[in-house]
Amino acid sequence: MNTVLTRKRLVIGNWKMHGTLAANATLLDGIKADAASVQDCEVAVCVPFPYLGQVQASLEGSSVSWGAQDVSTHEQGAYTGEVSAAMLADFGSRWVLVGHSERRSLHAESDQLVAEKAIAALAAGLTPVVCIGETYEQQQSGQTSSVIERQLAPVLALGADLVTRMVLAYEPVWAIGTGLSASPEQAQDVHAFIRARLQGLGVPQVRVLYGGSVKAVNAASLFAMPDIDGALVGGASLQAQEFLRIAAA
Ligand code: 13P
Repeated sequence: MNTVLTRKRLVIGNWKMHGTLAANATLLDGIKADAASVQDCEVAVCVPFPYLGQVQASLEGSSVSWGAQDVSTHEQGAYTGEVSAAMLADFGSRWVLVGHSERRSLHAESDQLVAEKAIAALAAGLTPVVCIGETYEQQQSGQTSSVIERQLAPVLALGADLVTRMVLAYEPVWAIGTGLSASPEQAQDVHAFIRARLQGLGVPQVRVLYGGSVKAVNAASLFAMPDIDGALVGGASLQAQEFLRIAAA
């Protein structure tokens, strides 16, 4: 089986904690206006919780799907401030990011917790986008593969039936918001490592996105790599034209 052909490209915008109702309306109109012209690539946005209703109302019926940036491991109950996967599904969400490096570092999310969030998302019919990646210090000291291995372990331990319903995103922490993207070759090396792990589990068709300072100018060279299936885009996803140029690449 040619797994390359079965892995449809995917570009997801991670708005992080940005936006207002007014700014979102302009951004969403811009994305919708041109999204239909993007061929052979799924386009999605992951937005702050309060804007899910707005995004659903705007994007329903378009080719662009949406989701959130985090989810509770719990189904419901006395968990003040948490948002369940079923709530995200209620707003038509298709995706949810889990284990973004900002959650791991600022909220001490463990590899195990991230895997539990992925399970919660799957149980509600969402596709978890599991984020992994090493810090600058870890990269400099040659620990990239051991960090990736460790972060992946509890996720891969869930088994092929669940992992096949996920998307992975490799986001080297040193490349996030720095303007310093990994080179296509650097990213490909890690993606090939991840692909080998997926292959070992019998699910080589799982998509692996790259994230970290992806812009229209570097997107095509990253997407030319055999194991890079798309991008998770931060800053550049806040401008409709730039975001769609990445998807078009
Ligand atoms: P930037 O594209 O702003 O570097 O952010 C990447 C990211 O963290 C996406 O989740």
